[in-house]
Amino acid sequence: MKIFLDTANIEDIKKANSWGIIDGVTTNPSLIAKEGKDFKEVVEEICSIVDGPISAEVISEDAEGMIKEARELVKIHKNIVIKIPMTSEGIKAVKTLTAEDIKTNVTLIFSANQALLAAKAGASYVSPFVGRLDDQGEDGMQLIEEIMQIFSMYDVATEVIVASIRSPLHAKLSAMLGADISTIPMSVLQKMFNHTQTDLGIKKFLADWEKVPKK
Ligand code: G3P
Repeated sequence: MKIFLDTANIEDIKKANSWGIIDGVTTNPSLIAKEGKDFKEVVEEICSIVDGPISAEVISEDAEGMIKEARELVKIHKNIVIKIPMTSEGIKAVKTLTAEDIKTNVTLIFSANQALLAAKAGASYVSPFVGRLDDQGEDGMQLIEEIMQIFSMYDVATEVIVASIRSPLHAKLSAMLGADISTIPMSVLQKMFNHTQTDLGIKKFLADWEKVPKK
């Protein structure tokens, strides 16, 4: 499973990228707003750090506006993927952009039917939001299972990015279900490294090393 970082924070992106395990980055207007910097500048900087797909989201609500924004955004870097919300206008934009060889990531997916329609329009990626489904008492991972089943049955080329990940468990279950990608916030990625037995083990090895006679 590929791991994307779900953030627009440059320091976090640099840090995670230095670990050598980051395959791409996803942003959204809320993540960009948190940084308090110019959108284009932030995206440019991310592209200069991570050599992989970088999702940048459009804010227009009509297909024409989305297409116009997308054509400008792809000029920033060859790795830009246009993030488009799951609406009928969004899907119309995806169809046009796909014909122009522009990569798209259809976001705010909350049902298997939405994923199916996005795939039919030629989306490169779909982003189902698991955490937000859990928040309202539904089962986010159940949605991933449904989408993976449908996509594998019909050999769909669209890749599934599990988004709105809130815990290491979401990441593990995504991998177990064969999701192509998990886009993970820095706080969750850091937790994935940890295990109390690892910490205890290191402590014990170092304590025992002290007992080894040294020349
Ligand atoms: O990038 C989209 C998604 O991952 C947002 O997650 O935590 O705001 O539901 P969250």
